[in-house]
Amino acid sequence: MLRGASVPIRAGAETRPAGEPGARKPPRRSAASTEPDAAPAGGREFVFDNEDFERLAALARAHAGIVLGESKRNLIYSRLSRRLRALGLTAFRDYRRRLDTDATEIERFINAVSTNHTKFFREPHHFAHLRDHVARPFAAGAPADHRRRLTIWSAGCSTGEEPYSIALTLRREALARGSARILATDIDTDVLGRAMQGEYALQTVGDCDPDFRDCFRSCDADPASGVLTIDDDTREMATFRRLNLLAEWPFRSLFDVIFCRNVMIYFDGATKAALIDRFARQIAPGGWLYIGHSEALVGGHRLLEPVGRTIYRRVA
Ligand SMILES: C[S@@+](CC[C@H](N)C(=O)[O-])C[C@H]1O[C@@H](n2cnc3c(N)ncnc32)[C@H](O)[C@@H]1O
Repeated sequence: MLRGASVPIRAGAETRPAGEPGARKPPRRSAASTEPDAAPAGGREFVFDNEDFERLAALARAHAGIVLGESKRNLIYSRLSRRLRALGLTAFRDYRRRLDTDATEIERFINAVSTNHTKFFREPHHFAHLRDHVARPFAAGAPADHRRRLTIWSAGCSTGEEPYSIALTLRREALARGSARILATDIDTDVLGRAMQGEYALQTVGDCDPDFRDCFRSCDADPASGVLTIDDDTREMATFRRLNLLAEWPFRSLFDVIFCRNVMIYFDGATKAALIDRFARQIAPGGWLYIGHSEALVGGHRLLEPVGRTIYRRVA
């Protein structure tokens, strides 16, 4: 059972400037493959030619590693049309010029082209593994173990469902707030803002794997507004930060667990291989890496032992 709405629901969250964490993002379709052709060729509102598409695709790749193939042409047009409208431009060529000189617009551009589909307890076998091989052994460990904290990184956390699923899994195993630190990062500042608000449609609970539904019992549910609010103790386990995975990482210590799921599918093979190598070195010996269902390591990695479906253990 979910707790009643004891905390005021902030469904109409405050508006902040686009690009800052906390800004509201226009509603977006979840998966790129389901995005409709909003602008059939011939009836387009803005001038958009081949060179526009190729230059913008090159920019997304250079800044974020995101590969936008030919099939994404209409998706790019429809997502960026909003930016042209907001800026009062009539042609993509002018938008490209703007990107040459405006760093804030580059951030908005990356926000617009990234794909953020996610859900609570997505790929539930990872959370079952986390429960059985990380949370329970840690909770049952010798008291000396409890002087240290578990450190978990959700890399490419999108709107927060993944890091909160991690926190809720740990809390159900009686791991207190201070016993784990979850770092949740993404390149997209819009999704980070939504993640920090910690508010979701109540129906998402019913949509998630039945084994994990009772994890939400500490959250506040308001059937009248249909809003689920992540409770403060769970929310405080997660720290949200903007981080481009292709840039330098500011970490001084290793993680017990890294989740990087459904992020590398948007990268090319070389970028993915380089990232896997960096993840392997950023995990403590004996720690775990969880990756997305279509991201399995072809050829493996000498520091990562495959131990289950898209689960790898860092060797000593
Ligand atoms: C499809 S979502 C995956 C969310 C979650 N990990 C899951 O599996 O449900 C991919 C996320 O990766 C982020 N992303 C893409 N390129 C990135 C980069 N270079 N650095 C950091 N995050 C990136 C996107 O902004 C997006 O939120």
